[in-house]
Amino acid sequence: MQADIGLIGLAVMGQNLVLNMIDHGYTVAVYNRTVEKVDKFVAMAQRGEKLIGCHSIEELVRSLKKPRIILLMVKSGKPVDDFINKLVPHLEPDDIIIDGGNSHFSDTIRRTQYLEKKGLRFIGTGISGGEEGARYGPSIMPGGSTSAWLVVKDIFQNIAAKVNGTPCCEWIGPNGAGHFVKTIHNGIEYAVMQAISETYHIMHDLLDMTADEMSNVFNDWNQDKLQSYLIEITRDILKVKDEDGTPLVEKILDTAGQKGTGKWTAQSALDLGTPGALLATAVFQRYISARKETRVTASEMFSEQASKSTHNNLKTEKNTFLKDLKDALYATVLLAYDQGFILLHEASKEYNWNLNLATIATIWRGGCIIRAQFLDKIKEAYNNDPNLQHIIFDPYFQSEITASISALRRVASKILTFGIPIPAMTEALAYFDSLTTARLPANLIQAQRDYFGSHTYERIDKPRGQFFHTEWKKLAQ
Ligand code: 2AM
Repeated sequence: MQADIGLIGLAVMGQNLVLNMIDHGYTVAVYNRTVEKVDKFVAMAQRGEKLIGCHSIEELVRSLKKPRIILLMVKSGKPVDDFINKLVPHLEPDDIIIDGGNSHFSDTIRRTQYLEKKGLRFIGTGISGGEEGARYGPSIMPGGSTSAWLVVKDIFQNIAAKVNGTPCCEWIGPNGAGHFVKTIHNGIEYAVMQAISETYHIMHDLLDMTADEMSNVFNDWNQDKLQSYLIEITRDILKVKDEDGTPLVEKILDTAGQKGTGKWTAQSALDLGTPGALLATAVFQRYISARKETRVTASEMFSEQASKSTHNNLKTEKNTFLKDLKDALYATVLLAYDQGFILLHEASKEYNWNLNLATIATIWRGGCIIRAQFLDKIKEAYNNDPNLQHIIFDPYFQSEITASISALRRVASKILTFGIPIPAMTEALAYFDSLTTARLPANLIQAQRDYFGSHTYERIDKPRGQFFHTEWKKLAQ
């Protein structure tokens, strides 16, 4: 029996995807660099003829139906190129290599070109949902050689999460489009996690709430407009106790790790010239968190100035304040999505990907880490107007932001006085305020640039495109 698909890389994601594919009736051939893991996995999985363990690349290739489909689930970077180079001599025209890791989209563009020149096909696909998603239905964002889509479509859509029967997998676009979309997904994920951690910080330090109380609040928040996977897991995390009965989360060292996709999102915002400070701040905040010793030193050096969480009056108005906090979080999250979708919009133009933003919202509704109820509304917003400049320009989100932004303003101004860092919330507010300020003080920046560098400026009383220079120093005498 020949396999429908081959998979290389039997780490957690790879193993779970294999089981998911077998559950959907596919026969899968597997290989791993450390070959012992193949036998171990085959023995553990007990999937009979549906799972073919291979001990070499040649054996893997031989066991596949044509055109061959080989999914790489290996560490991103060099291992992907290494496996591509090992596979190529054994493949025939039209065979398809898929990279399901978190690769940088520029690598995916390069690999697509390289393999297409050889008559082969390449797909770079985002797969989100962690272990459980991979096992029972992830959100899948494939891009690359367009003709390969029809070959892999059934497998991908069958194993993907479904929302009301619609699979959370659609073709994203050519070359690096799929991996770019996955990167932005992760960039939004970073910002939402940062915003949620800020609300936790406030509840913990200023409202003196217990973990159980916080869990109950997140549970309430998960009932309506904030309903999402990240709120749900926060609720669960806060319920879990360590062996001594205290909340486990309190025992965790406060240094956040990261694997690069958040950074790539921020870099893309800088490269494409889009407002992305809210997405970027979440990455920078992880960097600051990683400097634990420095923070401990600084907190001692500036002990008088460091956060003053006692003697606050928020506890007396706790219920009202929590209502505001919910709206503040909601506004911050919506604005993070707004920045993410601007990036998608700009990248689509820059790289000629012709991204369908309604489709992207659709496949993010289930399976993935940022799945959230309001993605349905984002989908509708882009269906109504595919060229929508900002999510918050859609009538529904315009009214949602209008209803919640003053709460964000109240929360931010109160919290800043206590010295609790809330960079996601303050960036969200700065973003909203900048976007809604018809005249920003950039006129002064232009004057300064013209003063020291003759960079010229445009005038409000002359047509755009006419440039002026002033001898500022002379005139100021
Ligand atoms: P391993 O089991 O032999 O370590 C996730 O780490 C997956 O990527 C694993 O299947 C792992 O193989 C593979 N991987 C990690 N680094 C690799 C490398 N340098 N070359 C090939 N495969 C690698």
